[in-house]
Amino acid sequence: MTSEIVRRMTWDDVPQVVEIWKDTGLAEGTHTVHTFFRFDPDGFYVVATDTGEVLGTCAAVILHSKLAFVGLYAVKKSHRGKGLGVRIWKKAMEHIGERNAGLNSVPEHLRTYRDLAGFSNVAPWCTLICEGVPDFGIRIIEPEGIQVVQIRASVLPSVINYDASIHGYDRSKIVTLSTAEEDSYALAAVRNGTRRVCGYGCIKNNVQGSLLVGPLYADRIDIAEELLRRLFAEFPGDSNGKITIGVINCNSEAMKLVTKLQLDIGEEVPRCYKRDQVHANFEKVFGQHALNFCPF
Ligand SMILES: CC(C)(COP(=O)(O)OP(=O)(O)OC[C@H]1O[C@@H](n2cnc3c(N)ncnc32)[C@H](O)[C@@H]1OP(=O)(O)O)[C@@H](O)C(=O)NCCC(=O)NCCS
Repeated sequence: MTSEIVRRMTWDDVPQVVEIWKDTGLAEGTHTVHTFFRFDPDGFYVVATDTGEVLGTCAAVILHSKLAFVGLYAVKKSHRGKGLGVRIWKKAMEHIGERNAGLNSVPEHLRTYRDLAGFSNVAPWCTLICEGVPDFGIRIIEPEGIQVVQIRASVLPSVINYDASIHGYDRSKIVTLSTAEEDSYALAAVRNGTRRVCGYGCIKNNVQGSLLVGPLYADRIDIAEELLRRLFAEFPGDSNGKITIGVINCNSEAMKLVTKLQLDIGEEVPRCYKRDQVHANFEKVFGQHALNFCPF
């Protein structure tokens, strides 16, 4: 006879956790769990049998003293409806304590989060999951005065500053880990002859087989498009040729870009908060960073 315990995730659990998430059919980078686990090793929980089989997972990453983000909430299909989800959720909530927290809700669970789990503040915008083979057209017009470069040590501090100007707080460790993530590729747009960053982006293998874009931040739509074009063209790994990107529908330029690239605009994902809504430089967010782990 086996019994289930809720405990912190370990490195050895990660492949099983990624597999459980993959089975939900939802997107995530193949190594993004590793990245955020390195960032907050106390923020990942599993429910597992005493023989080491992981049955469910939940992450509650503390981004800074006042903000956490909750995601990766899933239980194996064969074990749903037995109270395991709620048990693991409670542990994750203990970790974040009284601070504010956000989450992205799949539409079918909005009632649970909003009315039962205490995430009652729903943002007026939502994320749209956009997918397809991007059509960049034949005539490529590169933005004038801009150079797209790989994110190496020399440009990383400027990328970190740029990221902070979007989020409103310092994410040095997350940016450093994310731009060096396994199975991913990262580029920055800099003004010619300077190290002034005006956009950056990452592309990575998605557990669902496509390429996942995120983050994609830029000062303007043409810079975002150029970054995405180069990320897509130069990504060294294999893929099925499709990209997946989470776009916030309160950024009309980002919506214009996915429409221009002829991506399919899919599921609407509402954003819920425990307390106040979190703001960012919305107009520079063309693709969200990681839907399970951070707000933009
Ligand atoms: C969401 C999920 C993790 C819940 O796990 P579970 O083990 O089946 O849930 P439990 O058995 O603990 O839940 C029992 C009840 O509590 C509710 N509940 C689940 N999580 C809850 C939470 N965090 N707070 C309050 N109530 C919750 C459920 O809706 C359920 O209510 P119902 O019986 O009226 O439907 C599971 O359904 C799942 O893996 N879904 C697929 C992945 C997914 O969509 N994840 C969410 C992404 S945003």
